[in-house]
Amino acid sequence: TAAPRELLLSRIRDVPDYPKPGVVFKDITPLLADPEAFGVLTDALARLCAAQGATKIVGLEARGFILGAPVAIRAGLGFIPVRKAGKLPGATLSQAYELEYGTAEIEVHAEDLAPGDRVMVIDDVLATGGTAGAAVELIRRGGADVAGIAVLMELGFLGGRARLEPALRGAPLEALLSL
Ligand code: PRP
Ligand code: MG
Repeated sequence: TAAPRELLLSRIRDVPDYPKPGVVFKDITPLLADPEAFGVLTDALARLCAAQGATKIVGLEARGFILGAPVAIRAGLGFIPVRKAGKLPGATLSQAYELEYGTAEIEVHAEDLAPGDRVMVIDDVLATGGTAGAAVELIRRGGADVAGIAVLMELGFLGGRARLEPALRGAPLEALLSL
C-alpha cells in the first residue's frame, strides 16, 4: 500500500473554478469514501491529539465534524461541536471572524469547556485561518487551554499559519499535508 501521505493526497480531488472562478476547491469526499484512507487519516490525527496531551476534541462544522468525531473515538476523548451561529440550544459563547466578504460567527456550548481541559481543534482545511482562529478564542473564553490545531491540509499560499501564530501562544498547528 502507498505511504500514508501519498494515500491521503491521492484521495483529495481538485475541483477547478468552485465555488467561483479562479478557486480550486479541495474535495475530500473521495477520501471519506475510502475506508483505508479515512482510517489512516483518523489514526494520524488521533496520534497528534495524544502527542499533545489533549483531553477533548473540538470539531468545526461541517467538515470538521466528519473528521473530528472518529478521531475523538479513536483517541478516547470527548467531542465538542463548534457550530455555525444559531444551531446550539443551550447557553453559548459566540465568536465572529472575518470572511473574504463580510463576517461569520461560530458558537459552542459554554458548559462543554472547563478549566483544566486541553482542547485540540480538528478541521479539514486551514485556509486563511479565520475559522480556526475563532475556535481558539472560543476555547480560551470557555476557560480551557488550547492543545493545538490539527488539520488534514494547510493551504500555505493563503498565509493562515502566519496569521494564527500570535493567537496560538506556542500551541502547535499540525497539518498532515501542506499544499
Ligand atoms: C471551510 C473549511 C474550513 C474553513 C477554512 O469551511 O472546511 O473549516 O473553510 O477556511 P479559513 O481557514 O479561511 O477559515 P466552510 O465553512 O467553508 O464549509 P463547511 O461547512 O463545509 O466546513
Ligand atoms: Mg469547514
